[in-house]
Amino acid sequence: MQTKTYATTAYEGQKPGTSGLRKKVKVFQQPKYLENFVQSIFNSLVDFQGKTLVLGGDGRYYNRQAIQIIIKMAAASGFGELIIGQGGLLSTPAASNIIRKYQAFGGIVLSASHNPGGPDEDFGIKYNVSNGGPAPEKFTDALYEHTTTISNYVIAEFDDIDLDSVGETQIGELKIRVIDPVADYAQLMAEIFDFDLIKQSIAAGLITLRFDAMHAITGPYATHILEEVLGAAPGSVFNAVPLEDFGGGHPDPNMVHAHELTEIMLGANPPVFGAASDGDGDRNMIMGAHVFVTPSDSLAIMAANARLIPAYAKGISGVARSMPTSQAVDRVANALNLPCYETPTGWKFFGNLLDAGKITLCGEESFGSGSNHVREKDGLWAVLFWLNLLARKRQSVADIVTEHWQKFGRDIYCRHDYEAVDSDIANGVVDHLREQLDSLPGKTLGSYTVKFADEFSYTDPVDHSVSNHQGIRIGFSDGSRIVFRLSGTGTIGATVRIYLEKYERDAKNHAEDAQIALAELIEIAEQLSQLKQRSGRTEPTVIT
Ligand code: G6P
Ligand code: ZN
Repeated sequence: MQTKTYATTAYEGQKPGTSGLRKKVKVFQQPKYLENFVQSIFNSLVDFQGKTLVLGGDGRYYNRQAIQIIIKMAAASGFGELIIGQGGLLSTPAASNIIRKYQAFGGIVLSASHNPGGPDEDFGIKYNVSNGGPAPEKFTDALYEHTTTISNYVIAEFDDIDLDSVGETQIGELKIRVIDPVADYAQLMAEIFDFDLIKQSIAAGLITLRFDAMHAITGPYATHILEEVLGAAPGSVFNAVPLEDFGGGHPDPNMVHAHELTEIMLGANPPVFGAASDGDGDRNMIMGAHVFVTPSDSLAIMAANARLIPAYAKGISGVARSMPTSQAVDRVANALNLPCYETPTGWKFFGNLLDAGKITLCGEESFGSGSNHVREKDGLWAVLFWLNLLARKRQSVADIVTEHWQKFGRDIYCRHDYEAVDSDIANGVVDHLREQLDSLPGKTLGSYTVKFADEFSYTDPVDHSVSNHQGIRIGFSDGSRIVFRLSGTGTIGATVRIYLEKYERDAKNHAEDAQIALAELIEIAEQLSQLKQRSGRTEPTVIT
């Protein structure tokens, strides 16, 4: 195999965020930009020669070109085997599964998740380690260091690999395997859930469903599993063909962006169950006829009912949620006497807890949930969990949710996002909040009294690493909370997120609209942050 070494100079700003490096496609298309980052990944690895690397992406614009470059760089760097999803496709959870199942050294996943795709939109790349999960911060910090000092990269010279046919190619010492991206994942799901029961419920008409794949990666996965294996009516999965620009949409499963599904589920004659997933298949939105289940509630309901699912029938070891996620799951953990961990935003923080067996289920308010079956959040897994639950309980989604609230109380919850705010203004808002922290405890704001106010910092209970500056938390004496954070996944300016949560024990108030129930907390959030005043915005860009 011929390899060539090219001189290069560092690009600024190749710092991985919450989930890898995400930039505009045009940024990635700059000469040697991708090469610098990929070489920096390899420069951060030790003892990988001769080992296996998994490679795949969500199929967005630039996926194919990037994969060909990475194949040649991985070849030149001495990997022994590459496992690549056919068409260059692998959903994020499927990639995690492949890494684990085939005991790969690691994997590179090409995705900007739920961000739009296309020549003028976003692209992304992240490295996952041998447990199948996103690389820890220690690794991404070292990787970033390498990007600032890089001076050359090495690449092999051979023709582009045919990504469209399943099969094996040998190039020198390197074996390249193109695999069916769906098969291993579908098999894993069949091991976790009671497929026979779900199938019977669908065949009996007890469960009808629609799944919006948003022209993204879950199309082929959902069509195979939901329609071909479980027998859902043809067309139950819609927007099922992955497109490089996601059909011009924003592949983020929430009621704003998955509006087609939302209209179906909130309209006349909805099916029993509705769901959507994001660009790379790790997020999920769960809906029932005329109801939306918040991700925080979904996690709590899963934890409370885990024993009804074959893979978790013996019970779960513990649960975890990211800090801004509502405390609904804490209440379940408390009742079941299970450990409950509060981690910073970012799936990578669950990795050690899952590896150490401290938790079985985990989730985030940002439409992510998952378990110890892989080391990424998993959109279709959540969908199948709910389908299995519906089949076991023979109740509607709405009834499952209301019953849950009756038992545990409701954490009325919502998130307000202010996108593309000028970075200096956003940082000013956070500084302004930080300055007030010491003076807030004990203060009365409207009908709320501040119990604590801090900037969240996390010490990993397994490796004791510390992550500071993970968001501003303001807790009130009745258990309500306001959290402020800057997003780590945006690509333009800064996104300020405000998370609002009010605990309501009394079932007669459970039906209240979240925006109304949270109105006073919304006002207090503005009073404390001056966000609208400083940014000149009058309302959030997105409310979820
Ligand atoms: C990605 C990560 C999640 C995270 C979410 C929101 O989906 O995988 O772990 O919760 O982004 O992150 P952000 O920093 O934008 O709030
Ligand atoms: Zn995603």
